[in-house]
Amino acid sequence: GVDTRLDDLLGRMTLAEKVGQMLQLDARDDLEDVVQARLAGSILHASPEHLVRAVELAADTRLGIPLLTADDCIHGHSFWPGATIFPTQLGQACTFDPGLVERAARATAVEVAATGIHWTFSPVLCIARDLRWGRVGETFGEDPHLIGELGAAMVRGYQGDGLADPTAVLACAKHFAGYSETQGGRDASEADLSPRKLRSWFLPPFERAVRGGCRTVMLGYQAIDGVPVTTNGWLLDDVLKREWGFSGTLVTDWDNVGRLVWEQQVHADDVDAAVAAVTAGNDLVMSTPAFFEAAQQAVRTGLLDEAAVTAAARRVLRLKLELGLFEDPRAPDTARQAEVVGCREHAALNLETARRGLVLLTNDGTLPFTPAPEGGQRTVAVVGPNADDVQAHLGDWAGASGQVDWMPDGHPRETVETVLDGLRAVVPSGWTVTTARGAEIGTLHDDPEGPTFPDGQPRPRLFHAAGTDDALLAEAVARASEADLAVVVLGDTIDLTGEGCSTATLELQGGQVALLDAVVATGTPVVVVLVHSKPCVLPPSALAAAAVVEAFSPGMRGGRAVAELVLGLVEPAGRLPLSVPRHVGQQPTFYNQVRGQHGSRYADLTQEPQFPFGHGLTYTTVEWSDLRLLGSDLSLDDPGATVVAEVTLTNTGDRPAHEVVQAYVSDLVTSVTWASKELKAFRRVTVPPGERVTTRVEVAVADCTLVDARGHRRVEPGAFDLLVGPSSRDADLLRARFTVHPAGAPIPA
Ligand code: IFM
Repeated sequence: GVDTRLDDLLGRMTLAEKVGQMLQLDARDDLEDVVQARLAGSILHASPEHLVRAVELAADTRLGIPLLTADDCIHGHSFWPGATIFPTQLGQACTFDPGLVERAARATAVEVAATGIHWTFSPVLCIARDLRWGRVGETFGEDPHLIGELGAAMVRGYQGDGLADPTAVLACAKHFAGYSETQGGRDASEADLSPRKLRSWFLPPFERAVRGGCRTVMLGYQAIDGVPVTTNGWLLDDVLKREWGFSGTLVTDWDNVGRLVWEQQVHADDVDAAVAAVTAGNDLVMSTPAFFEAAQQAVRTGLLDEAAVTAAARRVLRLKLELGLFEDPRAPDTARQAEVVGCREHAALNLETARRGLVLLTNDGTLPFTPAPEGGQRTVAVVGPNADDVQAHLGDWAGASGQVDWMPDGHPRETVETVLDGLRAVVPSGWTVTTARGAEIGTLHDDPEGPTFPDGQPRPRLFHAAGTDDALLAEAVARASEADLAVVVLGDTIDLTGEGCSTATLELQGGQVALLDAVVATGTPVVVVLVHSKPCVLPPSALAAAAVVEAFSPGMRGGRAVAELVLGLVEPAGRLPLSVPRHVGQQPTFYNQVRGQHGSRYADLTQEPQFPFGHGLTYTTVEWSDLRLLGSDLSLDDPGATVVAEVTLTNTGDRPAHEVVQAYVSDLVTSVTWASKELKAFRRVTVPPGERVTTRVEVAVADCTLVDARGHRRVEPGAFDLLVGPSSRDADLLRARFTVHPAGAPIPA
């Protein structure tokens, strides 16, 4: 069995070889040094050439132990030019469709596996609360239930039928835990979280993924209440391993172990840091080359028990055995790549995912913009800095050719359909599509006042917003004035996105607001399309526009999907997986805040978001009625007790409605302050024009929990409201009451 093989192998390994298995190093560094001198068990960020060479180098080491290769293929294969790039996780979350998310992850796994990568650092299970955080676009939004459902689906998609399947890749739940609870939205700032708060909101999506079989977990960079996650015994040992039974492999984030010394300054040197990291139960140490010497020295000087190193190496080797790498190192397979990478089937799935994720935020009836009944030519002006910006459509962790340093040979231009491309492709024949950039957003500059870091750590740069460019503006205004419809594509840039790129503001940067004001002032109907990593605060001219479409970074085929939506070739289907604020100062605006915050409102601004969690319009009107519970007395004596409800949706218009039935639960009296409502179930329903559909939603009583003052998650018997409707806004929800009776208590007849 596996254990006998592991005993045999580990018995033949030197200390250096065992420490080597704990190293995950950057393939872009000197590969000979990484694989043969430091004996790294794993590499990340390998180019196609690196992958071939690395497999050869590993085969040539004393024991020929195969390499475990990893990458951030978080919405498609980031490092592989021409691979299928799906909408970002936030874009996929707008589908509220676990099945679709699972299929997208499966397609990604098939492509990734063909290129010789065994492991993707995905999904991100962090909760997006402060939207200034740069990594909001990598999340599934703000709701733990939605994140849990979609995260579990993504894990299933990656890991397929099990690791022995050659198309399976390892999934990685990250960043464990509380990483998104930043201060001021600043990336990796210390999280001020109690264990109870962690258990209430931040841990459940991870628990779900781990119990669902996710084989690896990546740690966050940050500390929680003074204790870096990297060495947080409570989180790693008590909760993850003992309580949830996680027996997979833990990987740190980038140089977490080095950061214990040079950044967090909780250890004096690399040896101390290595001792703490191994003792806390880390298995793979990402991008800390010095760990190789430091850990060996710690063992030789008696500071670290070699058994702890052996146990970590064992967990890494176990994964390799389960993947069958000793028999087949799963090297890049060029024939298979030609068949599957960026194939037509995946392109079709990608388009479907993008279509399903577009959220219609507002519409005065201008959309869908269909040909006039009498026919005739029309002109559509497509303007704005992101109308044809390939990188903004792809999103983070997917470089457009020549635009991102870490991916010099990024995705070729012709593989990406921007909104401009999409409209050119789908307008009826005889129509004219014109374009103008209209404005710049801004660029990065060196920050003379910025911090300096040790060698090899990039220095943060500062974003300079562009001013209004009169010539660009005039051209866009001219195009819009001549047109029947102006599609204004606005958003952010890669420089305002991702790790280390949080933003102090949420406004549209550079010349964008001036552009939009001027285009709206032409009187031509304006559709605003937002192509960006995360929500922004909409200026008054956007709210005055005919319609606003939220696309986030919709992936390679996203522009096509937007064009189809604008022209009414597809129906709007997406819903917001987070609340969109009116003003940056409202942060955070997540819907499931705890009750009882007397005076917590601002005197000068409502606390209501601009658009609530769950919001998204259709091209028709739907009436929600007749919420009915099939039993409103439930007992804790019945472990399978379930609240079953029916609700009726009537489509009173002439186009199909793609709705998301959202079921929230409100626990009316709680022993601790708790969320006023929480999403517990959702389901997609299509209602044909003029028809009425009665649909069922079910919520397990076992899910109607809170975390009590002692940190225990449990159901408190009593009265609850079930709230069902098309968004989280109270005014949109129908309400029905049910009672959960304590165990042993009689149930009324
Ligand atoms: O996987 C990522 C992580 O999300 C952020 N830091 C770097 C890692 C590897 O690229």
